[in-house]
Amino acid sequence: MEDFLSQIDDAKLPEHVAVIMDGNGRWAKEKNKPRVFGHKNGVTSVREVSEACAELGVKFLTLYAFSTENWSRPKAEVTALMTLLVETVRRELKTLSKNKIRLHAIGNIEQLPKATQKALLKGIEETKDNDRMTLTLALNYSARWEIMNATQKIAQQVEQGLLKSADVTEAVFTSHLETHNMPDPALLIRTSGEMRISNYLLWQLAYTELYFSPVYWPDFRKNHLYEAIVNFQQRERRFGKTSDQLQA
Ligand code: IPE
Ligand code: IPE
Ligand code: MG
Repeated sequence: MEDFLSQIDDAKLPEHVAVIMDGNGRWAKEKNKPRVFGHKNGVTSVREVSEACAELGVKFLTLYAFSTENWSRPKAEVTALMTLLVETVRRELKTLSKNKIRLHAIGNIEQLPKATQKALLKGIEETKDNDRMTLTLALNYSARWEIMNATQKIAQQVEQGLLKSADVTEAVFTSHLETHNMPDPALLIRTSGEMRISNYLLWQLAYTELYFSPVYWPDFRKNHLYEAIVNFQQRERRFGKTSDQLQA
């Protein structure tokens, strides 16, 4: 396999990388194993990608771990995912701190099972002073829910006379999103060959570079991440301008 790490330009790193970790079920099915076996093996990839991003100097890594739509899966799979989450957060806390990684979560956290919330909040509290990279888990996350939520909060402020409708700017709106303290992702990676957004960070992805990898999430390793970053660095981010304007 080609070595992609040596091709990365440290001066052009994406500050924020978002990932849709997909393909656990298909990975397991190909091995004649239950879907949960795929989820369990996906934890190794989470570790690899977190470590690789922290080592490179990426400041924000946001992983889609459970969508609000994922509640529609068989009950046993949902329960297994929640258990895996609690176990993983508990087990990885020391490593996170050793690597100076701060844990964070976005989504409708209050609607998660109590044990999940507890493990998560403990992890967030224990790592709050780490400043090398912020690792955010999107849990019970839905971008439309996030946007609706922000809209309701703003509407309430207008209703109470605290804000004028004319003052509802993009900056005000952004400040009410779950991601209010992060830059928008520069790069989005989705694994497993699916090419859709699945209700992830709809507002924040407006100008994100999209990268689709055919690799199933449990097989995704550091070099796959490096490959995605090399590909990202070869692109010209024009933000509406012409190529000539950017060269000038
Ligand atoms: C991603 O893998 C993990 C979660 C959505 C929790 P999937 O479970 O979606 O795997 P596939 O897409 O069925 O292969
Ligand atoms: C998106 O994956 C959610 C997560 C990765 C947590 P899904 O596998 O649930 O997405 P769809 O339903 O196939 O679009
Ligand atoms: Mg899937």
